[in-house]
Amino acid sequence: MSDNHPLSDVGACVFDAYGTLLDVHSAVRRYAERVGPRHAELSTEWRRRQLEYTWLHSLMQEHRDFEVLTQEALSVSLAALGIDQVIAADLMLAYRELKAFPEVVDVLTVLGEAGMQRAILSNGTPSMLADGVRAAGISGVVDQLLSVESVGIYKPDPSVYQLAVDSLGVPADRIVFMSSNAWDAAGAAHFGFRVVWVNRYAQVPEVLPGKPSRTLASLKTLPALLGIC
Ligand code: LAC
Repeated sequence: MSDNHPLSDVGACVFDAYGTLLDVHSAVRRYAERVGPRHAELSTEWRRRQLEYTWLHSLMQEHRDFEVLTQEALSVSLAALGIDQVIAADLMLAYRELKAFPEVVDVLTVLGEAGMQRAILSNGTPSMLADGVRAAGISGVVDQLLSVESVGIYKPDPSVYQLAVDSLGVPADRIVFMSSNAWDAAGAAHFGFRVVWVNRYAQVPEVLPGKPSRTLASLKTLPALLGIC
């Protein structure tokens, strides 16, 4: 089967939220002037540390929700770069109002019109996800919001991916999962989803258990990949 052959027998499309539908860097960008010249570095450090904290807390079996870890990762990242903590509250609010990537609304709309179930499966808390989809203007084009808070551990623990199977009533091999995060794409593929890695930043593939079925540069061509045009 060639790499651009449409994926068939798809029962549901499940999307990662942060970095895949929502642009995590739009929070710091909004306050770039106030943050100062190291704003891009802060955004990268914040995201890196936020994810590391999810993995470390999971390994330590010491769960804290994503709001808390996002706040703690921000505070440490500001300290590491010598940026005043006074900006933290505004950045945290901005994190609840991230921008969707430009193609997201149209793609989710097209999938829905074709009768495809659309869900988000994310590390975010239910309240972060509800605020996030509302602010990004996609609450009307997503059918279900699934949060790791239901299982109390972070991606890529298999119980997170199992949550989508159980909530949607669709077997893993009929779920197509989209993530821009290479490690999440690997985790989901290892679990048994068919995975589309949305390689937004032209990163090199990671060497991990679990291989995505397809790679796209954005979600723009997802409908075609699903045989919907
Ligand atoms: C999420 C993180 C991985 O939304 O971006 O689950």
